[in-house]
Amino acid sequence: MAITIALFLISLLTLSPLSSSLSLNYYQKTCPDAEIIIAGTVKNAAGKEKTVPAALLRMHFHDCFIRGCDGSVLLNSKGDNKAEKDAPPNGSLHAFYVIDDAKKALEQHCPGVVSCADILALAARDAVVLVGGPTWEVPKGRKDGRTSKASETAQLPTPSFNLSQLRQSFSQRGLSMDDLVALLGGHTLGFSHCSSFENRLRNFNSTHDIDPSMHPFFAASLRSMCPVKGRPKNAGAPMDPSSTTFDNTYYKLILQGKGLFSSDQALLANPKTKGLVTKFASSHEAFVDAFAKSIIKMSSITGGQEVRKDCRVVN
Ligand SMILES: *[C@@H]1O[C@H](CO)[C@@H](O)[C@H](O)[C@H]1NC(C)=O
Ligand SMILES: *[C@@H]1O[C@H](CO)[C@@H](O)[C@H](O)[C@H]1NC(C)=O
Ligand SMILES: *[C@@H]1O[C@H](CO)[C@@H](O)[C@H](O)[C@H]1NC(C)=O
Repeated sequence: MAITIALFLISLLTLSPLSSSLSLNYYQKTCPDAEIIIAGTVKNAAGKEKTVPAALLRMHFHDCFIRGCDGSVLLNSKGDNKAEKDAPPNGSLHAFYVIDDAKKALEQHCPGVVSCADILALAARDAVVLVGGPTWEVPKGRKDGRTSKASETAQLPTPSFNLSQLRQSFSQRGLSMDDLVALLGGHTLGFSHCSSFENRLRNFNSTHDIDPSMHPFFAASLRSMCPVKGRPKNAGAPMDPSSTTFDNTYYKLILQGKGLFSSDQALLANPKTKGLVTKFASSHEAFVDAFAKSIIKMSSITGGQEVRKDCRVVN
């Protein structure tokens, strides 16, 4: 118990949003066009590849959950150090080139000023706006970290987490139950490979072949998308049927037993989280307001030391 409390305090001290010194006008004098340049780059990329917005939002989450939002997810492996992006469950991470493109443009405009962690935080916001989500002002001034370890991706919440595991993972980062329910709404975007939900479809446990919290028709359709034999290489399912639109469908589906991951469906396991799911399912407005508030909180977990010149390598 003492150890748990000590670890919790350490994580609060090192990751607390309160210790950050971010500000809205951070680049006002040093790089006033930073946000315009990043938004243009994201828009251009999203126009060519429709999975870019989901990828940027997910990349930002992964970044903030490991070592704070310090661009550690952007670093390449080097020598015998395997970086976060090369950890085995990395299929969901892509579109790193968008951050590289923005950085390149910014280095021409105002060299050495805008951190990669800030670029990613802004790009995630721009991505959400492009697919119909809310906008918000991003506090800036994050520094980039110098460490990225594949082994630390084990600290990310997984699709099989139950509610107590989710709550613990979020509270270790200073994020509340309200933040948890709002931020999981990011699952309104994107695609998942079968491996993330397959445990629910067959041999679930000794009494149930299929996870009983799953709607039977939904389970049947996922089984046909993820056949045991002759499975296509990239088989999987969209996170929700409107997976390129930022909407509140995610919460409506959970109420129907059509949440894709155990961790999505787990939000019904407690009256408080269930109440929030119900609220967000019935009000798009309530969802997007809560999402914007919570993502600002998450993206204010800082951790870095420098402004990288190249987002893939430390200075
Ligand atoms: C995932 O990691 C493997 C090495 O473990 C690497 O070869 C591959 O390029 C990575 N994939 C992505 C999308 O980064
Ligand atoms: C959640 O999962 C953990 C780890 O598997 C387990 O110890 C715990 O009992 C589970 N909690 C609930 C409420 O099912
Ligand atoms: C299988 O899972 C269901 C739903 O979570 C649960 O009610 C049941 O007790 C589980 N069976 C076993 C043997 O663990």
